[in-house]
Amino acid sequence: MVSLGNRRPVSALCLGAMNFGTSTPAETAFAILDRFVEAGGTFIDTSNNYNQWVGHGGESEELLGQWLRSRGNRDSLVIATKCGARTTVPGDPGDAHWEGLNASAVSSAVKGSLSRLGVDRIDLYYAHIDDRSTPLDETVAAFGRLAAEGVVDLVGCSNTATWRLDRARQTAVAQGVAPYSVIQQHSSYLWPNPPALQGVLRRGTPHFQHAGIEHFDYLSENPDLTMVAYQSLLGGSYVRADRPFWAQRGYAHPTAYVRFEALRQIAGDLGVSPNQIVLAWLMHHGVVPLIGVSSIPQLEEALAAVDIQLDAALTTQLDNA
Ligand SMILES: NC(=O)c1ccc[n+]([C@@H]2O[C@H](COP(=O)([O-])OP(=O)(O)OC[C@H]3O[C@@H](n4cnc5c(N)ncnc54)[C@H](OP(=O)(O)O)[C@@H]3O)[C@@H](O)[C@H]2O)c1
Repeated sequence: MVSLGNRRPVSALCLGAMNFGTSTPAETAFAILDRFVEAGGTFIDTSNNYNQWVGHGGESEELLGQWLRSRGNRDSLVIATKCGARTTVPGDPGDAHWEGLNASAVSSAVKGSLSRLGVDRIDLYYAHIDDRSTPLDETVAAFGRLAAEGVVDLVGCSNTATWRLDRARQTAVAQGVAPYSVIQQHSSYLWPNPPALQGVLRRGTPHFQHAGIEHFDYLSENPDLTMVAYQSLLGGSYVRADRPFWAQRGYAHPTAYVRFEALRQIAGDLGVSPNQIVLAWLMHHGVVPLIGVSSIPQLEEALAAVDIQLDAALTTQLDNA
C-alpha cells in the first residue's frame, strides 16, 4: 500500500487501462481487471482520450464503467482519469486539436468522464498535459472548483515540468484550493538522454513527458506529492527482442546499456525477470508504477514484483549503475 498525496491509500501498482476496449478486447480487459482486484489492486488509470490513436477516444472509460457496474466494486477502488489532451476533431488525435485546460474545457471534460465511467465522483483527476496557452490561475481554479464541489477527490498533473508543477501548487495555495498532489510522468529504470528529457513541443507548449532529476528532488522535499510512473516497462523492452530499449527515442546511449546489463545481472542472480526488478526498484523509491498489460501472464509477472524486497546493497548497485 502507498498513500497518494499522503492521504489516499492505494495499491503499490496502478493498472493502466489505456488500451482497454480498443486494442485489448473487452473480454481480456475484464479478465485483467478482475485478476488485478483479486490480487489486491485498487488503483486504476485511464483518460478521457484513451484510446483516440486507435479508436474514437473514450472507449477505455466506457469499458471501465461497464466493468464497475457489473462488479459493483466502485467504492473499493481509486479511479484516476485525465483531461486536456482529448481531440476536438474526431479522427485526428494530433495535439493541434487538444481540448486544452481552460475553465470551460475542464468543466465539460469532467462531465464526459463522469458519464462514460458511470460514477458521481472521480478519485484522482489529472491535467493530462501542460497547457501554457491558458493562464495557470484559470486551470488551477478549474481543478480546485471540482475538488471543492466534491466532483473529484485528489487532483494531479502529467507531462509537466517541475517549475510549472511548483507554480501550480503555489497558485492553488494562494487561491485556497486543493493543490496537485500526484504527478504522472514517463519514468523507468533506464534514463533517456538529455535531448529526450528536454521534451518536445506540443500545441506550442513544451511537453515534458519524462520524470527528470528535478522532479525527484522536488518530490523529496514535498511528502504530500506522489509520483506515478507511466510506461515503466518501456513497452516490454527489458525482455523483448522484438522491441529493444535502444530502438526507443533517447535510449541508445552508453549509460543505458550499462544500466541494462546491471539490471539483467541482478535479475538473473535473484531468479526473477528484469521487468520485476524495474518495478521493485521504482516501488522501493516510493514511485507508483503504472503497468500497461495486455494479457494475464504479463499481469502476473508485474504482480509478483510487489513481493520482491531489494536490500540496501542491491538498491545501491542499481542506483549507481
Ligand atoms: N500520462 C500519460 O501521458 C500517459 C502516456 C502513456 C501511458 N499512460 C498510462 O500508462 C499506462 C501504461 O502505458 P503503456 O501501455 O504505454 O506502458 P508500457 O508498460 O510501456 O507498455 C505496455 C506494453 O508492454 C508490453 N508488456 C507489458 N508487460 C510485459 C511483459 N511482462 N512481457 C512482455 N511485454 C510486456 C505489452 O505490449 P503488448 O501488448 O504488445 O504485448 C504492453 O501492452 C497506460 O495504460 C496509461 O494508463 C499515461
